[in-house]
Amino acid sequence: MARILGFGGYAPERVVTNEDWSKWVDTSDEWITQRTGIKRRRYAAEDESTLSLATAAAEVAISDAGLTPEDIDEIVVATDTPEAMTPDTAAFVQHRLGCREVPSYDLGGSGCAGFIQAIDVASARIAVNPKKVLVIGVELISKMISQKDRTTAVLFGDGAGSVVMGPEGGKAEVLSTVSGTDGASAGILTLAAGGTKRPFNEESLLSGDYNRLIMDGRKVFVEAVKRMSEASMDVLRNVGKTISDVALVIPHQANKRIIDAVGKKLGIGEDKVFVNIEEYGNTGSATVPFALWEAVKERRIEEGDFVVLTAFGAGFHWAAAGVQF
Ligand code: ACO
Repeated sequence: MARILGFGGYAPERVVTNEDWSKWVDTSDEWITQRTGIKRRRYAAEDESTLSLATAAAEVAISDAGLTPEDIDEIVVATDTPEAMTPDTAAFVQHRLGCREVPSYDLGGSGCAGFIQAIDVASARIAVNPKKVLVIGVELISKMISQKDRTTAVLFGDGAGSVVMGPEGGKAEVLSTVSGTDGASAGILTLAAGGTKRPFNEESLLSGDYNRLIMDGRKVFVEAVKRMSEASMDVLRNVGKTISDVALVIPHQANKRIIDAVGKKLGIGEDKVFVNIEEYGNTGSATVPFALWEAVKERRIEEGDFVVLTAFGAGFHWAAAGVQF
């Protein structure tokens, strides 16, 4: 399997608190904290875009790996909030970082599971052809969804996380990846317009659907707990380990109650589940790589530790990875 050579992350400077939100829509710090565990989130500045977030995180990961952009052989970007509809964000990243003319592509639309799916794809690519793959999870949600809908907008933040993967060296090895899809649930978490089925046009603009996120929060909640814990157990089975071998679980940060329920289902102590949702909210496909970067920086992960990453998102898609440090 592939190895992880470097870790990186980036969070925009602007901090938006629950108190800020309570001035803009009918909500409160108490409601948001109790239901989600979120206290603050970061929003990109006017002059920032998905590209600037992605490259900021990637530069940290490349430098952490002791490499330069010319060393990168392939780029995968997981995002649901791309720089443009076409071409993909990876093309912009390749140019902005100053990489060679290497294969670059997005894994778009798999919501918050996108980064671990990208790790899965990168591992397979490295197994076929030993190369250094830059993997980025990035989301700039604050400019993409309605800031008037309290049921969705308060949940999200902007950010990016990244790893550099390769066939040898580095700090950790990806021992197993699993992923799955339940397309029957596609309508439960989806943007109301923007694709060919319902394009951005005058009608979707006037109806307000152009930036409306359709979400059945309770169904997402139940499925997220089920799928993230099952995928984590599948990874443990694949590598012949049990939950007592796990030093840290890094789950997608969608809701503190979802995270707690996953920890409970797995039978692992709270001290072994990484949580930073209070500070950053749900940054989609960026939550896992950003949290991984923070966990490494904060020395929550030491050499010899076995770490499980797990995520769930629109689709529904889910994925997990077992990483041996
Ligand atoms: N402030 C105040 N009240 C609110 C807010 C808000 N920001 N948002 C919704 N409400 C109200 C609703 O209008 C509703 O009122 P009503 O009962 O009068 O109709 C009520 O609060 C909803 O309450 P519940 O349904 O009991 O809320 P619940 O406990 O289910 O929490 C939440 C809602 C936080 C969305 C939860 O279901 C959740 O987190 N689900 C997961 C969704 C998610 O994480 N989505 C992110 C993308 S997917 C992913 O990352 C996995």
